[in-house]
Amino acid sequence: MAKNKLQQFAEMDTFKHVFHATYDVLKNGDYKLKGSWLNFFNNNNKIVAELGCGKGEYTVGLAQQNTHNNYIGIDIKGARMWRGATTVNNLKINNVAFIRTRIDFIEKIFAKNELDEIWITFPDPQKEKRRKRLTSPMFITRYQNVLKPNGIINLKTDSRLMYYYTLELAKTNNFEIIINTEDLYSSEYANEKLSIKTFYEQMFLKEGKKITYLKFRINDKPVIDTPISEEIIRGY
Ligand SMILES: C[S@@+](CC[C@H](N)C(=O)[O-])C[C@H]1O[C@@H](n2cnc3c(N)ncnc32)[C@H](O)[C@@H]1O
Repeated sequence: MAKNKLQQFAEMDTFKHVFHATYDVLKNGDYKLKGSWLNFFNNNNKIVAELGCGKGEYTVGLAQQNTHNNYIGIDIKGARMWRGATTVNNLKINNVAFIRTRIDFIEKIFAKNELDEIWITFPDPQKEKRRKRLTSPMFITRYQNVLKPNGIINLKTDSRLMYYYTLELAKTNNFEIIINTEDLYSSEYANEKLSIKTFYEQMFLKEGKKITYLKFRINDKPVIDTPISEEIIRGY
């Protein structure tokens, strides 16, 4: 029988690889594992975070493909996270953690240079709220404070708005663009890593939408917004 939310949350409380960083804890200071996530994993491997991981398909899929890296999925919605957290538990995967919290608090969760790479998969494009996009200057500045120098950000999305906005922002800030495709599955990049399909991606593919992918390297300069107007970005 399917578990209800309360049962899912109770089950997640028993998982050692699932953490809950509440506002009440974070309002008074940093999260207890900030700066010591490698102690949790008990190795010196890279740490890759997925922001807005939903059911955790990327976090789990990448972890299975790259057992030499550690993966941390972050989302505010515990019921979605339960799916990935349960898979990790059942398959005894030891290079994954999940944190239930708001991405907005990322600097309270990770120390400077603690992350090597970030994945953002099918984020809400925040049509009316440019500032709230997970690749806005406000968020990229936060990522600068937790990523290693020249850290990498991956954005996989069906949203043309999100894709073009991020591409223009990356160009404006002289971020090194490593991969840029407007149609991933017709491109040369549709490899094993990029072929992991999240819950949202499967829905968008059924609707016949093309999937875009951007991989870029940030720098340590102050992040500015692209001067290109929202009207133009929407019209691309
Ligand atoms: C459209 S869903 C995509 C989920 C998953 N990446 C996928 O592709 O199936 C966006 C996810 O981001 C999460 N999210 C959005 N804003 C967030 C925030 N500020 N902090 C934490 N999670 C957030 C939502 O809870 C949701 O699960």
